[in-house]
Amino acid sequence: MSTSPSRVAVFGAGYVGLVTGACFADLGHSVVVRDVIPDRVAALQRGEVPIYEPGLEELIARNAERLTFTLDVPEAIDGAEFVYIAVGTPPTYSGDADLSAVWTVIDELPALERHCVVVMKSTVPVGTGLRVRHRLDERGLTHVGYASNPEFTAEGTAVKDFLHPDRIVVGAFRDEDGDSVAALHAGIEGPVVRCDVASAEMIKLAANAALMTRISFINEIANVCEATGADVVRVAEGIGLDRRIGPSFLRAGLGYGGSCFPKDSLALKQLAANSGYHFQLLNAVIEVNELQKRRVVGKLSNHLGSLRHKRIALLGLAFKPDTDDMREAPSLVLAGRLLAEGAAVVAWDPIVDGGDLHGVEIAASPEAAAVGADAIVIVTEWPELADVDWAAVGETMRTRVLIDGRNMLDPEPLRAAGYTVEGIGRAAHDGAG
Ligand code: UGA
Repeated sequence: MSTSPSRVAVFGAGYVGLVTGACFADLGHSVVVRDVIPDRVAALQRGEVPIYEPGLEELIARNAERLTFTLDVPEAIDGAEFVYIAVGTPPTYSGDADLSAVWTVIDELPALERHCVVVMKSTVPVGTGLRVRHRLDERGLTHVGYASNPEFTAEGTAVKDFLHPDRIVVGAFRDEDGDSVAALHAGIEGPVVRCDVASAEMIKLAANAALMTRISFINEIANVCEATGADVVRVAEGIGLDRRIGPSFLRAGLGYGGSCFPKDSLALKQLAANSGYHFQLLNAVIEVNELQKRRVVGKLSNHLGSLRHKRIALLGLAFKPDTDDMREAPSLVLAGRLLAEGAAVVAWDPIVDGGDLHGVEIAASPEAAAVGADAIVIVTEWPELADVDWAAVGETMRTRVLIDGRNMLDPEPLRAAGYTVEGIGRAAHDGAG
């Protein structure tokens, strides 16, 4: 395995492409990131990072001499030994992944005479690699290799996840291509799983499906806890200590969102259906998640009666803390449902500016959002919320109702400050009758 620096082209300067490019540069490789959006490339060339991802800006700045940005395909490809594809694969109307950006990259590749390896980082349906292989062959690029090297980075911890992975997965049609992609990661500690291309594609989809299944599972347990008087936080702790189960991804809440889980679950569902298989468990996981986002509306109505003209403060908009990403955020569904009920919705988030949320008033702080509110809903567990003086906030509210959609606050001091508090799946803890 060679460990000498390589030339890497990365197509796509989104979350995945930027993290991939910056991390490979940090490993000593020479990287050119190519994107089609002129403003994005210009900003990156000025040293401005257009997304919020902890550690990324420093990483890009630190590796500036090995990391450049361009709109130009020939400039990106020039001398590249690896061509990483990290473009978006959003769902189409049918739920299938839209691979048009992937095909554009393949078709834009010049008639390369030398050997290089096209590496798929974007999440794609199983079978895509084989189709790309055929397309490359049709174009006479039989000497160009192909590998699948899926990403397992989570937003907010993407740089750390890339440089300290649980595993690196490399699927290739030819062993030597897999060897070179694995060698490109020299300097990163972690097991390398080598397999065929289809299995690498499935590992990515199955990993996300397993995580989503855990979330919907604990959310359903939470709902049964509410009906039976148990506390899901204690239940998750109690089952998570079983080594066979483990503690991760057992936080009950308002459901999962983000750019990956909702999209990937639909893509896997469609992939199975297109292949003639009805993936019952995954369908249930998706449905439970949709219902979970809406359950808060029922909780608010239980405490406030009709929500018409009630003022509801949503604290947190991003789909999770430490990101500015609003894609499929539960806050979007919740805000929409509350507005449809005739409520006035005011929201705060430390990073998301909320300008796109039609009909929602944006507040500059959690305290400002709560003034005159009939209820607060904690939608995203931003750490800032742990430091709020909730007793003082309560003084400014019209009714002290707090729905803790992420079970992040200790309900006892809140209750002592006069709040009616309800979490998710914490019937016993709520003491609520
Ligand atoms: C997820 C996976 O964790 C990554 O491994 C994967 O690479 C990535 O998708 C992807 O496919 O690109 P991400 O969407 O950034 O990463 O965020 P997560 O931290 O996994 O959270 C996803 C959602 O699940 C969030 O809305 C979060 O609030 C929710 N969640 C997570 C829960 O409701 N409960 C939990 O216990 C954990």
